[in-house]
Amino acid sequence: MTLLLADLLDDLRADHRNMTVMLDLLGQQIEHIRDGERPDYELVHDIMRYMTVYSDAVHHPKEDLLYGVMKSEKPEMTKGLERVEPEHQELAKLGEALRNDVEAVASGATVTRERLVEDTSNYVTMLRKHIAWEEEDLFRRARDLVNSEKEMFVDISNFDTLDPVFGSEREHSFANLLQNIKDLSAS
Ligand SMILES: [Fe+2]
Ligand SMILES: [Fe+2]
Repeated sequence: MTLLLADLLDDLRADHRNMTVMLDLLGQQIEHIRDGERPDYELVHDIMRYMTVYSDAVHHPKEDLLYGVMKSEKPEMTKGLERVEPEHQELAKLGEALRNDVEAVASGATVTRERLVEDTSNYVTMLRKHIAWEEEDLFRRARDLVNSEKEMFVDISNFDTLDPVFGSEREHSFANLLQNIKDLSAS
């Protein structure tokens, strides 16, 4: 299955908007903890489950396709691209730390508020920075490539591209997360 490079870029930008909603929800949870309230552990867990099954497993490999075309078509466009992979790995590591926190709480262990705030903040801060870099720098360069006269396609048959939260087929296990997204946009 192939996809037009221009459409891939649009999909990646839509992913970023969706991921930003997740980061806004996590930011709200940080505020709750700082206000002395109990965080919604189930929600944080759902968010991190989504970030693992979609952002890490689908969004990042899709970006690799885009960056791969940039490297092969326009080697002069590749400045800084070597930072992408270590940043994706670091994001997966920070995400895992946060997921471990909420899973520990679910299994009855104690996780301090400070640690939860720190792990959530680290993840939110790094992902916001990474998305901003891609949007303001890498995707702008990719847009120039897309706008050049040659039509380019990428092969996306190697991975499942369905988004279980924002896609056309929503997974039932994310119902609680979807309700929180609705509430956020209504507030
Ligand atoms: Fe990325
Ligand atoms: Fe990204």
